[in-house]
Amino acid sequence: MYAIIINDVVKKFNNRIVLSNINLKIEKGIVYSFLGPNGAGKTTLLSIIAGLLKPDHGKVLINETLEPYSIEAKKALSYCPQEPALYDKMTGLENIMFYARLYGLNDREAYRRAKELLELVGLWNEANKLVGRYSGGMKKRLNIAISLINDPEILLLDEPTTGLDPIVRRTIWGLIEKWKTEGKTIVLATHYMEEADNLSNKVAIINEGKVIVEGTPKELKEKYGPKSIVSIEVEKPSPDQEKLRDALKDFSTIVYISNNTINIHTNDPDKYVPSIVNKLYSIGYNLLSLKISKPTLEDVFIRLTGRRLE
Ligand SMILES: Nc1ncnc2c1ncn2[C@@H]1O[C@H](COP(=O)(O)OP(=O)(O)OP(=O)(O)O)[C@@H](O)[C@H]1O
Ligand SMILES: [Mg+2]
Repeated sequence: MYAIIINDVVKKFNNRIVLSNINLKIEKGIVYSFLGPNGAGKTTLLSIIAGLLKPDHGKVLINETLEPYSIEAKKALSYCPQEPALYDKMTGLENIMFYARLYGLNDREAYRRAKELLELVGLWNEANKLVGRYSGGMKKRLNIAISLINDPEILLLDEPTTGLDPIVRRTIWGLIEKWKTEGKTIVLATHYMEEADNLSNKVAIINEGKVIVEGTPKELKEKYGPKSIVSIEVEKPSPDQEKLRDALKDFSTIVYISNNTINIHTNDPDKYVPSIVNKLYSIGYNLLSLKISKPTLEDVFIRLTGRRLE
């Protein structure tokens, strides 16, 4: 059974195509990630699934039969937007109770549900504070709590952990795992490859409005990633990346620099690491550390698009 079927969806803004012929089927009870860089079309796709935007072509079905903008779909599904939609001049509790009333709960039920959800996201102690005084991370958590009011079987989370500190991020990841074990279907948009990798049963990598590949994180890394990544921390990477690529071209498929680290995709680290090290010394680099690791989803993305994700 599919929670969401996306059938040949096209979306244009001002005649510019931002989603082009998207076809995806999302099984019930899994965590599914849309992974892609800024502007890839993730929010647009989630908004179409949530019934907030209509596609120019194609259609989406919820639970195989429901139109996304139908009342039945709205009962089954909830969307937590990328930008928190909250009232600054109301407290956290008032905000969540306001939304609970919109869902038709009476005052008593709304209070009970609000308390339960604020406790879940660790905000009960801040419930009576004005939201205008909340930190960005607190607003994000309140927004997630609000999206749970109707106890949705399908939860769409748009960048749930962007801007959160690592501890709060792990708390949110823990909640997502818990909802999965309860049988909910979670679709999340993210540009954090560890988030997609750690949480998802399946990932669609989206770039410039197209799904470039879809599969389990393991499948994608095995199929599209290099065998290994050699990461070498150096004192000062030269800004001349072309020169570096040229020097390493016999040992690597892709070379990119992040901070002070030169990352080298290679299919035979045992054979090439000594040559890589020698070569880097010979062109004047001082090496500080060296690590050989398995590819990540970001390496898959770089391999397929030539760009970095984050
Ligand atoms: N209402 C709109 N009017 C015009 N263009 C839009 C509108 N909403 C989105 N776009 C454009 O559509 C493209 C996809 O945007 P979208 O917000 O879906 O990307 P995203 O993958 O969610 O990016 P991010 O990671 O930055 O949130 C972008 O080029 C964006 O500028
Ligand atoms: Mg977005």
